[in-house]
Amino acid sequence: MYRTHYSSQITEELNGKKVKVAGWVHEVKDLGGIKFVWLRDREGIVQITAPKKKVSEEIFRIIPTLNNEDVIAVEGVVNFTPKAKLGFEIIPEKIEILAKAESPLPLDPTGKVKAELDTRLDNRFMDLRRPEVLAIFKIRSNVFRAVRDFFYQEGFIEIHTPKIIATATEGGTELFPIKYFERDAFLAQSPQLYKQIMMASGLDRVFEIAPIFRAEEHNTTRHLNEAWSIDAEMAFIESEEEVMQLLERLVAYTINYIREHNEKELEILNFELEEPKLPFRRITYTQALEILKDLGKEIPWGEDIDTEGEKLLGQYVKETYDEDLYFIYQYPSEAKPFYIMKYDDKPEISRAFDLEYRGVEITSGGQREHRYEKLKAQIAEKGLNVESFEFYLKAFRYGMPPHGGFGLGAERLLKQMLNLNNIREVILFPRDRRRLEP
Ligand code: ATP
Ligand code: AMO
Repeated sequence: MYRTHYSSQITEELNGKKVKVAGWVHEVKDLGGIKFVWLRDREGIVQITAPKKKVSEEIFRIIPTLNNEDVIAVEGVVNFTPKAKLGFEIIPEKIEILAKAESPLPLDPTGKVKAELDTRLDNRFMDLRRPEVLAIFKIRSNVFRAVRDFFYQEGFIEIHTPKIIATATEGGTELFPIKYFERDAFLAQSPQLYKQIMMASGLDRVFEIAPIFRAEEHNTTRHLNEAWSIDAEMAFIESEEEVMQLLERLVAYTINYIREHNEKELEILNFELEEPKLPFRRITYTQALEILKDLGKEIPWGEDIDTEGEKLLGQYVKETYDEDLYFIYQYPSEAKPFYIMKYDDKPEISRAFDLEYRGVEITSGGQREHRYEKLKAQIAEKGLNVESFEFYLKAFRYGMPPHGGFGLGAERLLKQMLNLNNIREVILFPRDRRRLEP
């Protein structure tokens, strides 16, 4: 390897020892008798100091030929000294150029020259050389790690369901049609039907982390056409409350994991991530409409709470209770999909909930209708073709336990957690209305 240590791994015990560091040329400074190179790697920056008297002629010749963003490997001796900004420097014995960078650069990786999001996304590889951008993706990696940890600890089994499917689940308008040999098929909007089928298998508690595809026509700061969904489904529940409890523990665990393991990244982002208070507040849909009415926004009972309503409610909860996360539950049945269970004694109200984070929905979930006849009726009620759900309905005829679950949008969670303006910030190569490359 060209590298024995990342920049961050050079500690005082290495003083006087030989190390190999490798990365990109962040900056070069030539003061005549002494030359400097700042080398950047994934973990930070190191200063390479070349005083004429201490280094070879070869090194003195190479340094001025370096361009910003060239890839180099440096072998040298660690020198801890208060004169160096970072407290230490490396006196090079060998500098090898591994790859040259063309000039001018498509983007300034030091961030001194600000770039539009579009330019950044067009040059994502270089955008990621900026520590603030890299920090987001280090946090993203740990979010997925925390989520997996949590599910394993809770006795969940990871599953993988098809992404090429024959039936819509979340309403017919957001589907991407594809050609599947001589038949029509779609990209999966959600693993909904499959994770429910698994409840008839005895696996009991399952989760899946996979992409979902939604043909959202509009460009918004919180919709992607390809997003990552964290889905869970659990059997033998007595009510949706148990699903809500699982979800709030998952979200709190994940946030606390990031607080604990990404201190450095949160500092780079200059963001203080607050510890969430458990349990999350629970607001019924009807209460939410009353709050909104008091705030001057009237939504007719039965309609979905729109983007503006969600935002107002988020501000209200923050100002009144100083909380960022809360549930809206007991949604009207008409506003929710066919698979959600209604209250037997009040069928206009459903066992569906959303989890909101700073005024944006990050999760939908609920208890499902597991009774075959009722489920069939609900499919028909929504105007869907019962026959096309036969492969799904079959699982409900041979012993389907009561169950429920949720879909948590990973990008929504990350965007809201880090309080970022645009969902595109938290996915490497966003797919949106215009973007199919890179
Ligand atoms: P759902 O809750 O219907 O399953 P979802 O998870 O995608 O959909 P959102 O899209 O956040 O949730 O829906 C919440 C609200 O956001 C909607 O009621 C609507 O007012 C608004 N909304 C949804 N899609 C768009 C869009 N493409 N452009 C603008 N606003 C939208
Ligand atoms: P829903 O359609 O509400 O529910 O989606 C669940 C969560 O997925 C995320 N999400 C998106 N994120 C980015 N871009 C999009 N276009 C997008 N669409 C959805 C959101 C949302 O809260 N089957 C149900 C879940 C369930 O009941 O288990 C479902 O898909 O964070």
